[in-house]
Amino acid sequence: MCKYADLATLRSRQQHSRCDPMSIRLSSGKEIPIEMHKTRMVQKISLVPVEERLKAIDEAGYNTFLLKTKDIFLDMLTDSGVNAMSDNQFAAMIRADDAYAGSMTFYEFADAVEEVLGFKHVMNTHQGRAAEHLLAKVFIKSGDVIPTNYHFTTTRGHIELLGGTVLEIYYDDALKTESTNPFKGNMDPQKLKNIIKKYGKDKVAFVRMEATTNLIGGQPFSMANLREIRQICDEHGLILVIDGSLICENAYLIMQREKGYQSKTVAEIVKEICSISGLYYMSGRKNTCVRGGMIGTNNEELFEKIRPWLPVYEGFYTYGGMSMREIGAMAVGIREMVDPTVAGCSVEQVKYFVNRLVETGVPVVTPPGGLACHLDAMKFLPHVPQRQYPAGALSAALYIVSGIRSMERGTVSTDRDKEGKEVMADVELTRIAIPRRVYSISHIEYAIDRINWLFKHRDLVKGLKFVYEPPVLRFFGGKLEPLDDWGKKLTETFKKEIGDS
Ligand code: F0G
Repeated sequence: MCKYADLATLRSRQQHSRCDPMSIRLSSGKEIPIEMHKTRMVQKISLVPVEERLKAIDEAGYNTFLLKTKDIFLDMLTDSGVNAMSDNQFAAMIRADDAYAGSMTFYEFADAVEEVLGFKHVMNTHQGRAAEHLLAKVFIKSGDVIPTNYHFTTTRGHIELLGGTVLEIYYDDALKTESTNPFKGNMDPQKLKNIIKKYGKDKVAFVRMEATTNLIGGQPFSMANLREIRQICDEHGLILVIDGSLICENAYLIMQREKGYQSKTVAEIVKEICSISGLYYMSGRKNTCVRGGMIGTNNEELFEKIRPWLPVYEGFYTYGGMSMREIGAMAVGIREMVDPTVAGCSVEQVKYFVNRLVETGVPVVTPPGGLACHLDAMKFLPHVPQRQYPAGALSAALYIVSGIRSMERGTVSTDRDKEGKEVMADVELTRIAIPRRVYSISHIEYAIDRINWLFKHRDLVKGLKFVYEPPVLRFFGGKLEPLDDWGKKLTETFKKEIGDS
């Protein structure tokens, strides 16, 4: 008999939910994603007139991070910490056992982690980057190298602050925005072997694989590739660290795309990915729909190296910087995230979004992955040189014409090197993220319409220049200015053709 009736329901739903459709074929033959949930609480949003949007982006220094939500219609900046929680998660928050030490809610969470991810040892951190901080502090010495399938901004920040160097070893076509490669998140095993040979295994702090590789457009790795990388790590005594912040989308895409996985459940694939890791960490803000993070492993020795630092930087062992309420909701979220109607909800919306834009010739990252629809800003705005930040300009322009907040993922999001020189990003992407269970198809239709309008008027959009630049992770707080006052011209044209909103 299960301790909690709702968990019994959840488990049986997980097991049987392969029958739930994630997208539906209409009688016309058209396929649309279908929401396998109903909305029982809502938040009012509004679309302010285009002139107010111009004023807002001006005040925000053409940086969408600095907008206020009162000025935003659809907040597609990120899928982090802004997903819709389930009724069972809210219930778990109320029930949570508040205690500085020894809270039973932490042990419920640990049970969920063991059941779903298969890890015997787990600690919470206040979010994903806090886990990265602890891993960097414990495992990286100055001069070390960290091979990865691709970096994430905060990961690179922590690694470099400790004197480490990130080496990205993807296959060559990972950076081709238009592609049919189903697994652009794969690491090139030969390049990994070469690195180990060149630097020596003692200089390799760990090898990092990121699920649904964020900065190249939410692209998954395959299980076969992950296994091959683990084997190389084992041969050289190296730790394989998996960043599983987007593990469920990766698992869902493996289920859809990798031979031999079609009849497996997301739950089985997630567990298999975890079993291949030496150390695992994740932001809980994405898949588990809460605000927190965690580190898990079955390697007690590695775990005990990290654990002493948890109370120094995060909080006591049984809360690690999170509130007990969030840990309670995360325990439920861990179980719910492997339900394919949760794991696949944003993947199916991204697929619809991307495919519709491909039809009208808008340059987007293909194949559609997890997390977001990504516009290829260098192709969208070929007249804007990379040093004038095309992805940042496109993100600001999209906000002006739609009230949609997206995120720059290009050179603005890449910090200068040690000498202060600009480092051009490999790709210039404007990321339009899909928070889980938050927006419906009509919102996506609206986004598609405004992106198409902007594409037709792309000549009006020019570049940006920095007027204020923070010393680290400059994209968060940096302020920019439009070259040639293009925001005003875009606003005037929009007003003339479409009207106020
Ligand atoms: N790793 C990956 C792959 C991420 O996508 C993120 C966050 C982190 C680590 C850091 O986790 O935010 O909980 O500290 N990604 C967010 C995004 C910020 O918008 O993609 P965090």
